[in-house]
Amino acid sequence: MEMYQELTAGPAIFQMGVPAQETLPATLLARMRAQAVRAEVSAPAIYPDPRGELALRREIAAYLALARGIECAPSQIIVTAGFSGGLGLALRVLGLEQKKAWMEDPGFPFTRQGLALARLSVAPIPVDADGIDVDYGMKHAPDAALVVVTPGQQAPLGSTLSLVRRSRLLDWAAQSKAWVIEDDYLSELQLKGRATPALASLDRAGRVIHIGSFSKTVTPALRLGFVVAPAALASQFAEAAACLAPAPGPAVQRAMADFMREGHYLRHLRRTKRVYAAQGDALLKYLRARTANIALAGLAAVLQLTDGAPDLAIAREAARMGLAPTPLSLWYASNGPVRPGLLLGVATSPLKRIEASCDRLLQIIDRLT
Ligand SMILES: Cc1ncc(COP(=O)(O)O)c(C=O)c1O
Repeated sequence: MEMYQELTAGPAIFQMGVPAQETLPATLLARMRAQAVRAEVSAPAIYPDPRGELALRREIAAYLALARGIECAPSQIIVTAGFSGGLGLALRVLGLEQKKAWMEDPGFPFTRQGLALARLSVAPIPVDADGIDVDYGMKHAPDAALVVVTPGQQAPLGSTLSLVRRSRLLDWAAQSKAWVIEDDYLSELQLKGRATPALASLDRAGRVIHIGSFSKTVTPALRLGFVVAPAALASQFAEAAACLAPAPGPAVQRAMADFMREGHYLRHLRRTKRVYAAQGDALLKYLRARTANIALAGLAAVLQLTDGAPDLAIAREAARMGLAPTPLSLWYASNGPVRPGLLLGVATSPLKRIEASCDRLLQIIDRLT
């Protein structure tokens, strides 16, 4: 919980994993949520569908077909409390206690911890410019029952899982009857070029559980995400949702459904992408002129530090100045090689603050390395 609180405190410049305050259509969302709350309290007091509101599941299915290449029915969709809620639900349904799971290394620390809490043993699998190294996994942990991946934009190094590796991963999963959890945390929010279709869109054997989230695309305060269950598992997911993890309350879902149906979501994504792309370019340009080891990855700039550099201490020192870079070393499995670095959130780097914030951060790095 301490690491969770430290990494999610804020808001602050460079904070990763949260969207920009400035691009959120706050007035519109507030109006839609107020309307939905009024409708909720004046409706009869009955239990809502534990899979989530049909109106939202329909909108999500339509969006996924359009933007992520996934053909699914609303009955395969379960609305959850973000990606984390979806991961918890999937792990309950799959029942993989004591089994082995491949996990990207580096990879999202809370997923690693979530797998351990669900009593899986985590096999760290290296990541390169083509995404997770599937051959490494097949060689070193062929008996795994699960793999959790971020194929769209690897978290945190940003690479897209190549088509060759996608096929190898899906073939391996089909042959060895392993499950694949696709963490599509950024959806189509990609700063350069078009986002590749989801891994689930290529899954012919029904092995991929796709999990999406509105945390990065709208705001994590909604705590809204969704699971797309393979058709054969849809009823098991529905039962687990009903008995163990029902969808969040209807009002927030209805508001999101209206936001999507009226076209605001797609407009918001387009605008957000433009703003983030400009901020990302400016951040990269300023830092490139001062250090060689910088690259954009997903919605962050990755600043590699020299071996042994104390990225955690640098991040803590920066926090005292209102900056919140994330130490890269925290994203590595504790028992393997670790590359120190800092992840600088693009969304939380407004153009006006970039130069002064970078200067301050570079001074701290100089002082502590
Ligand atoms: C890779 C990755 N997956 C999932 C999440 C969490 O998403 P949610 O807020 O929907 O639980 C994050 C949030 O930072 C993330 O970086």
